[in-house]
Parts: sequence; C-alpha cells; structure tokens
Amino acid sequence: MRSPEITLAQTSLLQAMIAIAPKNARIGCRVIRDGDEAHLLPEEAHSIPARQPAMRRASGAARWIAHGLLAELGVSDAAILRAPTGAPVWPDGITGSLAHDDDMAVAAVAPIGHISALGIDVEPAQPLPDDILALVATPADRIDVADRHLAGRILFAAKEAVYKASYPLDREVLGYEDITVDLNAGQATTKTGRNVSLAYCVAPRVVVLAFVETR
Ligand SMILES: CC(C)(COP(=O)(O)OP(=O)(O)OC[C@H]1O[C@@H](n2cnc3c(N)ncnc32)[C@H](O)[C@@H]1OP(=O)(O)O)[C@@H](O)C(=O)NCCC(=O)NCCS
Repeated sequence: MRSPEITLAQTSLLQAMIAIAPKNARIGCRVIRDGDEAHLLPEEAHSIPARQPAMRRASGAARWIAHGLLAELGVSDAAILRAPTGAPVWPDGITGSLAHDDDMAVAAVAPIGHISALGIDVEPAQPLPDDILALVATPADRIDVADRHLAGRILFAAKEAVYKASYPLDREVLGYEDITVDLNAGQATTKTGRNVSLAYCVAPRVVVLAFVETR
C-alpha cells in the first residue's frame, strides 16, 4: 500500500471508530506494515511465543497504537505483555484490548474508574461465509437490525470482542454458543452472567467494541 492509501485507510477507519467509541475510551488503528514487529518492546517480544513473522508484525502494530493511547492517559513506556492465556496485561488502573486482521491493527484503552473491561475486534467488511456463520450464530442472537450482507460478520466480531472483554473479569474460556448478542439493543450476555454493551461500525471495516461500564 502506498503512503497516501495508508493515510486514507487509517483516517477513515479512525473516524468511524471515534463515532462509536464509548465516552472515556481511547481508540486507534494502524495499517500493518513491514517492520512493525520492531515496535514490540523487548519484554513484549519475549512474552509473545515464537510465531509467524506476520503475526509478530500485527502484534507490534497493535502495541504501537496502544503505547500511544497509554501515553495520552499519562502512562509512558509501559510494556503490554501477553499472558500465557493470550490476554494482554495492562498497567494498573487501565483496561484495554487489541485486535488485528491481515491488514489493520486496532486498540482500545480506558481508565478502570470508567470502564471495567473492554474488548475489540476488526474484520474485513465482507460477508461471513455460511459455514462459519453456522458455527457462530445461535437462535437467541438478534442481528436483524444490522446491514443484511454484513450481519454475520458483525455477529462474529461481536462475540470475539465480548470474549476479550469478559475473559479478564471471569477467567472463563467461552465458545460462540456461550455468548448471546442482541445487536438491536447493543447488548450481549455471557453464560457467566456478564452483561456487555456493544458498539460497531461497518465501513471501511467492521470494528466492534464491547465494554462493561464501571458502576
Ligand atoms: C481471543 C481470541 C478470540 C482472539 O482471536 P484472533 O482472531 O486469534 O485474534 P484477534 O486479532 O481478534 O485478537 C488478538 C488479540 O486478542 C487478545 N487476546 C488473546 N487472548 C485473549 C484473552 N483470553 N482475553 C482477552 N484478550 C485476548 C490479544 O491481545 C491478542 O493480541 P496479540 O496476539 O497481539 O497479543 C482467540 O485468541 C481465542 O483465545 N480463542 C479461544 C476462544 C474462542 O475462540 N471462543 C470463540 C469466540 S467467543
């Protein structure tokens, strides 16, 4: 991707994400580029098991965003380690979430005083293949309000985002069948009894934010 295309892709997605982000959350995105693995701090690189270069690039891009967002909250030089469970480890008093597809990385962070858990997912704005939709959807899910062609993709991203928000709170591995999504109401519930709010955009990419507000 040439530099003007990178700028356009990032700017348009960022605008769409800002429009859906809950108050007090900070969000960002970055087109994944060659060399982004160099943005991993040494401790972060060490915490991420040896994997394909493309995955390390994506993790580096997501952490580059998150480092900038943490700096906005007054936290500099914090390493975001990957716990053995896969979950990112945030500095005290902060929660957040990371995601990447083949081309784009996204991140969200928030002070725990406002939001007790966050989850984010990013997906290409393309219909979800029917065989995957059959694995993801349950009869209890309500997605009729969503863009007809992208409803399955939004549902998929919503369940991944809800899982990322709920895991740090409940420490329970969930399957798609353990999460019920109501896109009409902007809500999801998990089998652990967790109620999670949802917000999403579909262009230029599908991004879903799942969040639990602090009472
Ligand atoms: C969390 C999970 C859904 C992420 O999906 P993915 O498509 O591989 O990757 P994404 O780009 O969307 O997200 C990757 C980020 O998720 C985060 N993540 C991984 N495990 C996590 C967990 N248990 N809790 C919270 N966040 C987690 C990490 O920050 C990771 O970024 P990193 O690799 O740079 O450190 C997947 O890794 C997983 O653990 N699946 C098992 C459970 C499952 O799939 N259930 C069905 C969905 S509800």
